[in-house]
Amino acid sequence: MTDFSSHLDDWRAWQESPWGRIRYRVVAETLGRTCASLGEAQLRVLDVGGGDGGDAAPLADAGHDVTVLDQSEALLDLARSRATVRTVRADLEELPGLGLGRFDLVLCHNVVQYRPDTGSVVEVL
Ligand SMILES: C[S@@+](CC[C@H](N)C(=O)[O-])C[C@H]1O[C@@H](n2cnc3c(N)ncnc32)[C@H](O)[C@@H]1O
Repeated sequence: MTDFSSHLDDWRAWQESPWGRIRYRVVAETLGRTCASLGEAQLRVLDVGGGDGGDAAPLADAGHDVTVLDQSEALLDLARSRATVRTVRADLEELPGLGLGRFDLVLCHNVVQYRPDTGSVVEVL
């Protein structure tokens, strides 16, 4: 299992590289269109394995009510420093028992490939 919080400098360097920036821009555009297709209202968004909020921050900045779930408190600290997001430190496998309520949109970007059993992650979501 990759521990991103112990490789923060590498992770941030990748995010800020040209390919990383393109990737986040494409995701932000796709998520923006998805949100727009769901209506004008503020959406409740859950970002599972949301890390330091690279995807969550633009959604929060657009006025959505965003919760970031991640196993790393260090990454969640960074997410809170980037945008107004609620954070939950937990393993994504605990999600069904956390009682977080209902969400209009759930995203899980660039996470499942780091889990030993991607099938169980998809079931949880
Ligand atoms: C490659 S990063 C992607 C972060 C974010 N989704 C993004 O695209 O910027 C993978 C994230 O998944 C988190 N993660 C991996 N396994 C997890 C698990 N079992 N429960 C919660 N978070 C997990 C890591 O801590 C890390 O923040």
